[in-house]
Amino acid sequence: MTNPSVTPFSARLDSSSNPLIMCNTARCGHPVAPVTALTAGVEGHPLAAKLTRPDPSSFANHDQAKVTDVKLDMRVNFDKHVISGVMTATIQTLTENAPAVVFDINKLTVDLPNVKLYGADGIEFKTNAAITNENGPLGQALVVPLPETSPAQSTFCVAVPYSTHPESSALQWLTKEQTAGKRHPYLFTQSQAIHGRAFFPCQDTPGVKAPYTASVTTPAPLQALMSAIIENEVPDKTPSGDYIWRFKQAVPVPSYLVALTVGDLVKKDIGPRSCVWAEKEQVEAAAYEFAETEQFLAAAESICGPYDWGRYDINLMPPSYNYGGMEHPCLTNVTPTLLAGDRSLANVVAHEIAHSWMGNLVTNSTWESFFLNEGFTVFVERKIIGLIRGKQYQSLHAMIGWEDLKASVQLYGEDHPFTCLQVTLGDADPDDAFSSVPYEKGFTFLCYLEKLIGGPQIMEEYLKAHCRQFRFKSISTNDFKSFFLSWCKEKGVSDEILNTIDWDTWLYKPGMPPTPEFDTSLADEVTKAAATVAEAPEAKFPAEVVTPRNWSASQTIVFLDALLDRVDTALAAVKNDESKSGEKEEIFKKWTAIWKRLAENEFFNSTRNSEIRFRWLTLGVRSGVAGLEEDLTQFLSSLGRMKFVRPLYRDLFASARYREFAQTLFSKVKSSYHNVCAKMVENDRAQTVAKPTLYA
Ligand code: BES
Ligand code: ZN
Repeated sequence: MTNPSVTPFSARLDSSSNPLIMCNTARCGHPVAPVTALTAGVEGHPLAAKLTRPDPSSFANHDQAKVTDVKLDMRVNFDKHVISGVMTATIQTLTENAPAVVFDINKLTVDLPNVKLYGADGIEFKTNAAITNENGPLGQALVVPLPETSPAQSTFCVAVPYSTHPESSALQWLTKEQTAGKRHPYLFTQSQAIHGRAFFPCQDTPGVKAPYTASVTTPAPLQALMSAIIENEVPDKTPSGDYIWRFKQAVPVPSYLVALTVGDLVKKDIGPRSCVWAEKEQVEAAAYEFAETEQFLAAAESICGPYDWGRYDINLMPPSYNYGGMEHPCLTNVTPTLLAGDRSLANVVAHEIAHSWMGNLVTNSTWESFFLNEGFTVFVERKIIGLIRGKQYQSLHAMIGWEDLKASVQLYGEDHPFTCLQVTLGDADPDDAFSSVPYEKGFTFLCYLEKLIGGPQIMEEYLKAHCRQFRFKSISTNDFKSFFLSWCKEKGVSDEILNTIDWDTWLYKPGMPPTPEFDTSLADEVTKAAATVAEAPEAKFPAEVVTPRNWSASQTIVFLDALLDRVDTALAAVKNDESKSGEKEEIFKKWTAIWKRLAENEFFNSTRNSEIRFRWLTLGVRSGVAGLEEDLTQFLSSLGRMKFVRPLYRDLFASARYREFAQTLFSKVKSSYHNVCAKMVENDRAQTVAKPTLYA
């Protein structure tokens, strides 16, 4: 049987079975012609002139040939720190005579002679797969030439045998000593933004979405979990006793949402469609902390429309997990730093739940419009908080976010291009552009639009329409803009109103947006307390001014943010001026006294809320307090969440008092951090060293 719509560019091969290749439709597999390694970037490939690259952060040519289905067969080797397997993709061409299909890889070993190409009918074509040279953070292109002639809409199947590098940026391997139970090793993947290519060969752009199935072989008794539905609750077994776990994600997802965790895990149900997975030592604490999950899901559905993913489970990660949460479909990852004991940090779960629509269902087509994922998600997250905890809390969270935005813009500088909502990445590493800007400037933009078109009711109607319109798709900023405008018009919002939106400034101009109006009812008490504390002569403020135990955790955060704001303002006036070193000393004296008096309140030293603890230590460092080494060591060696680790090290590197201590501590604990975290701290250090000293 041949496929009449496809003309082979070389002779078809004989059919025979190849155990490596597990493509459902494939039937064949003799080795094909040897491949010569290329010597340049994608540009160096003979087909380069014909290949397109719609996403600057990827080599994929997905407007010519795109992946429409993925099958992964993987084996996890804890001894070698390697995942090896075969990635089998169904490819659809979008143009006539599409020259090749291009995948991204990063430090993967690809068995090039065994890269196979098949037609829709399963007959093999000869192909000449090749890998281009290493190209910085983007990795390499794997080019699989297609037959010389084929009509648009042709289907192919490509099978790529590969293995990961022990230092893959997508994988973190933990020894058993690094786990809570200390019985078994642990592995997790974290692919966003462009580490998917260090996990398996893929068109590693959010502009490509495909359903996937997977089988994962692990040593017994380890549990594998993926961002998908588990097909076998009880593992299949290999003849040697290893476990085989099978997964299916029926909804099309981008490569950055394909995720794997392997560990000694147990689960506990927390709702009709939810459970937590954790090591058994922590499963109860996690179940308690995240008990509101079903309420959050129901609230999110009332804002965005039906939940499309079946299950929403939570995966409690090891302490070194570098993010607060990650929205892997069906299975959100969360950092154990959320275990405050009082559910006060559960907004992170609300955030990841919101991604089930904003990001996962409707996806930014490149990382340049990351705010379409994160800004929309924060907007929905805060609406969920508003529904469950009340409007006043929604506002309080918005105020905390505003402080984060100010800090990011200050760090980059008002004119920095990464303070634009829509950024230009070129071949920069998206990790370097990561900040609060897409989150909080994006959130502020949506709040502005909401107010403009008439308030929450019509805006939530829009959000539902947005999800319906774009579900399963990847969208650009212009897709959003034109749909928003046409939808609003149809709803009767006047041109007069819509024409006032300054899209150009919001999207493409750097710096802070106009300050929004906040409902300050919950913040007033604490900002007043901060003023009393900061202005009391000789730090002799009455102790009862500060009673954090009567405040909610978010209020305490706003209180500390207000104090941080004041120290920063005081220091800003003197920091780069040698002649003002006396004044600087005075500022440190004053703030050290304030910090010490606050410290008499046991709360700040005993809280399990990591957001509070982080701000408390930051305030100490910025205030010039001496003797924080022990607390800092404890905090910085107990977690690897970049949100805390990076800014704290940055402050320490910028402080004359703690710089050396920070260098020593970092070299000591670095190997326990995720390698992306370690790299980012390293980069931050290099940049901070070049800057004048800010703190004592
Ligand atoms: N998707 C992000 C995490 C992420 C972003 C990982 C970019 C890699 C690259 C996740 O949804 C997130 O935003 N997490 C936040 C929590 C949130 C409440 C702001 C975090 O990790 O702190
Ligand atoms: Zn997010």
